[in-house]
Amino acid sequence: MIHLHDISYLRLGCQNLSEMVEFATDILGLELRHKTDTHAYLRGDSSAYNICYIEGDADYDACAFEVRELSELDKAEKELAAEGITAKRATDEECEERQVNSALFFADPNGNRVELVYRPYQTGVRYFPGRDAGITEFGHFGLHTGDSERDIRFWTEVMSARVSDKIGEGALLRIDPVHHKIALFASEHTGVQHVNFQVASIDDVMRSWYFLQEKNVPIVFGPGRHPTSTAMFIYFLGPDKRVYEYSSGVKRITDEENHTPRQFEMAPTSFCMWGAKPNVDEFSE
Ligand SMILES: [Fe+2]
Repeated sequence: MIHLHDISYLRLGCQNLSEMVEFATDILGLELRHKTDTHAYLRGDSSAYNICYIEGDADYDACAFEVRELSELDKAEKELAAEGITAKRATDEECEERQVNSALFFADPNGNRVELVYRPYQTGVRYFPGRDAGITEFGHFGLHTGDSERDIRFWTEVMSARVSDKIGEGALLRIDPVHHKIALFASEHTGVQHVNFQVASIDDVMRSWYFLQEKNVPIVFGPGRHPTSTAMFIYFLGPDKRVYEYSSGVKRITDEENHTPRQFEMAPTSFCMWGAKPNVDEFSE
């Protein structure tokens, strides 16, 4: 089994890099740490970056997980090969671009691009945003799954994730005590489904609700509260048409042995216990 220590970063393709930097800094509340003609590195914590926008193919995306030991990458290469998955070791140039010591690239059974990274760079300076959205950390991301049984098996048996709860065919997976760091979202698409940043409190969620409306940012779900993770949330669209989320109050699962995943019915109340309904077309892109 490949042990995932934490989520690390997302690489998100876009058509217009300046537009994405403006959104990420002025609306989302991230700090721009480094920018080239084609790449922009943004963060909501003290790591080198959480999101790297790359100008070019707007459909391109990849998600990365940190592993603790360098040997984990060799082990992963072998275990993935046994699953019929070809993995590629990153070149020095590719590592430099990602600001990590070593990396391994592959696609999961759904075709989602995944990168395992060893020693992603941290900084000695704290995160300092231009807009104070109350971000405390890069929380989780959603990945599309076209076959949830196949993909849950991959993420829990080949990778070290555990199912925290299920909603219909979708699944919320944890890799540490946080209720979920990966959300498998049943659909016919491939890649990253949404991007979450945790904020300090419900006040930050609600402040952003008013702020986003003032800025005419399309809100696609919420404010609401997930009955699964207990987190209070709001989801909105970026200019790249991707779904972004702020949430606060995510449950931690500390009693690993006695946690039994619950199966929630496929209904709006399984996503929001307050009664908010997702704008289904935009939410599932
Ligand atoms: Fe989420």
